[in-house]
Amino acid sequence: MTVRTQPAHRFGVTVEGFDPATASDDDIEDLRRTVYEQKIVVLRGQDLDTRAFLALGRRFGRPEEYYQPMYHHPDVREVFVSSNVEEGGRQVGVPKTGKFWHSDYQFMPTPFDITFIYPQVLPERNRGTYFIDMAQAYERLSDELKEAAESTRAWHSVRRYFKIRPSDVYRPLSEVQAEVDAETPPSVHPTVITHRFTGEKILYLSEGFTSGIEDSEGRDRPDLLQALLEASGQLDPTFGHENIHLQTFEKGDLLVWDNRTLVHRALHTATPEPAVSHRVTVYDETVGDPMATSE
Ligand SMILES: [Fe+2]
Repeated sequence: MTVRTQPAHRFGVTVEGFDPATASDDDIEDLRRTVYEQKIVVLRGQDLDTRAFLALGRRFGRPEEYYQPMYHHPDVREVFVSSNVEEGGRQVGVPKTGKFWHSDYQFMPTPFDITFIYPQVLPERNRGTYFIDMAQAYERLSDELKEAAESTRAWHSVRRYFKIRPSDVYRPLSEVQAEVDAETPPSVHPTVITHRFTGEKILYLSEGFTSGIEDSEGRDRPDLLQALLEASGQLDPTFGHENIHLQTFEKGDLLVWDNRTLVHRALHTATPEPAVSHRVTVYDETVGDPMATSE
């Protein structure tokens, strides 16, 4: 297994020569450490079917079936499908996913630890995913902002980006919204969490899912939320902010990243090209209770 830094990138490494079929438990532990320390690992030259992809994820933790069945792969429910390509005349998975800054399942009480993305149909022109390392973003905050964030809590909700399902057609919007609020009430986490493996402090916020910050006296702090998102780079419409990293990939690449530390966002394309990717997300119980997101 050869690990290389990505010289033209801000973080992340590529790994060549990793074969999931023959990887020992020590190899998996090496890779787990590399994911947490380098934030993104691109496994080169992978050729896995859907079940083998899930099996790889399972070696890192407990896979979660996405709470909405419309995202499930028809044969392997734990695999989430993002696709704008019809198969056999029908939509499989969901198109236009993740075109906003977020981390996966941030709106749930227990967010995933590690995300695996395995692109299946790759766009020719606009290919890649934007990332921000929110541990680095925290480190780069002014002392005043660090102090202001420290004793606060943040609310995260799926409401703004909930996708209307085929079964919602003809339903009153208010009814759908009430159902979303009942099924996925906002989750609450400290604004600054500590990573269970690295011990790093992470600014745990996203433009897409974070709906508010409350200070220790229970006051709503929209000004603080705005200032922290701004400082992190998530409000930069040009994507030129120093914290933003564009991760590209080739056919056969499989991306593994630390979903607690990174926020990500699909590359926006004005002219959609065919794109399909498969995703597996896991809870890593080897680094302690995944529920322990607080300090
Ligand atoms: Fe995502």
